[in-house]
Amino acid sequence: MEERKASSQWGSRLGFMVAALGSALGLGSLWRFPYIAAENGGGLFVLVYLIFIVLLGVPLMAAEMAIGRSSQSSPVRAYGTLATKHKRAWQSIGALGVITGVLILSYYSVVAGWSLDYFRLSLTGGLPTSNDIDAFKGVFGELLKSPGTLLFWHVVVMLCTAWVVGRGVKGGIEQVTEWLMAILFLILIVLLGYSMTLPTFIDSVKFVFGFHAEDFTSESVLEAAGHAFFTLSLGMGAMLTYGSYLDKRSGVLSTAVLVSVMDTVASLVACLVVFPVTLNGGITELKEGGPGLVFNTLPLSAQALPFGGVWISVVFALLFVAALASTVSLLEVPVSVLIDSFGLARRKATALAAGVITLLGTPAALSWTPGFFSDGMTKIFGKSWFDLVDSLSANWFLSLGALGTCLFIAFAMDRKQLAAEFVRNHEGGRKLFQLWFLTTTVVSPIIIVVVFLKTLNVF
Ligand code: TRP
Repeated sequence: MEERKASSQWGSRLGFMVAALGSALGLGSLWRFPYIAAENGGGLFVLVYLIFIVLLGVPLMAAEMAIGRSSQSSPVRAYGTLATKHKRAWQSIGALGVITGVLILSYYSVVAGWSLDYFRLSLTGGLPTSNDIDAFKGVFGELLKSPGTLLFWHVVVMLCTAWVVGRGVKGGIEQVTEWLMAILFLILIVLLGYSMTLPTFIDSVKFVFGFHAEDFTSESVLEAAGHAFFTLSLGMGAMLTYGSYLDKRSGVLSTAVLVSVMDTVASLVACLVVFPVTLNGGITELKEGGPGLVFNTLPLSAQALPFGGVWISVVFALLFVAALASTVSLLEVPVSVLIDSFGLARRKATALAAGVITLLGTPAALSWTPGFFSDGMTKIFGKSWFDLVDSLSANWFLSLGALGTCLFIAFAMDRKQLAAEFVRNHEGGRKLFQLWFLTTTVVSPIIIVVVFLKTLNVF
């Protein structure tokens, strides 16, 4: 397979790693992980999650990157060109990925918009100053019921994302993500340093690493597996697309390991930033926070701190920065397909994809508007549009895409060509390749199928 031309390649191996990390490290790690860890009992959940990162995450990320780099093409074409037979059928994995990415971005962008609105509120004094959690919940509820505000920020997020993607791989995604990640880690370290000075820090560490088996259920296992895919941006071809911009000399396995480790560390740090402040604010039941943990409980608790207001602004800026590097990777998937398979110029492809996704996000933003998608009006399978798209894409399509990729590795790709991807770069040689191959083609599919059957209540 011919390499892509230099303008559509990463400038450096570090640039590729940072871009992949930027994709992974987003709202999944900073907003979602702390509250689901709290809901599912802390330590035990964290342990199961770590096991899934090792058994599902790392192998699959290496698989996606290897498929991308080996084919030097966008998802749909990649599966077609690499398959030894039934090319068309295998292409559908790529097509499913594009649909999944479009769906995820359409509501992810709305959530990223929440953090922008909270950032604005924190700067303009719009957040309550009382010690009343209901006042904070009121602000959150108010936001969800303001379609104009939600749409406005959704469009802002999409515009920022399209601006980065439109500038291309090296000059846009790579350059901007490097900046975003530098800012992100700086903020995260400062916040962690601050949390460490709080008397509740030790209790938080105990919570994150101590077992609370009573809150851990079989649902928690599903949650941990699903989150492992989501947080590492797997199952829809994002890492495949990023891998396709990699030259033939750089290895993928070490990048997959590094990105997974860094994303996991950031998720744990997020807990150690959120929990101490929350506990310090007098809230002892972390698991009550739910999705509002970072948006309600945290601002309430932060008030008690010196410079609490500034602290909160910084947190919401952090969320937005993290989200943006992820939305960029989500948009890049359909854009690369439009460029590769339909011959569109990058700018046109970006405008088209971003436009469609912005429209698709509109019903997501209206999901809480009374009389529209909630409160007795239009509900689809008893769910609001937002919840429906979220569970369909994040729970079902991602796992389906992941399973497809594992089967592709097992049955469709030439074994020698695959081995060359790993051995050529001296990444541990044949033994390591065989271990990876076994995990990807046997262990991961079994876990995914079991999780599927369990979700369907088959046993
Ligand atoms: N991983 C990101 C997060 O944790 C979200 C994300 C970006 C994503 N690209 C993806 C999720 C691709 C699934 C698939 O917030």
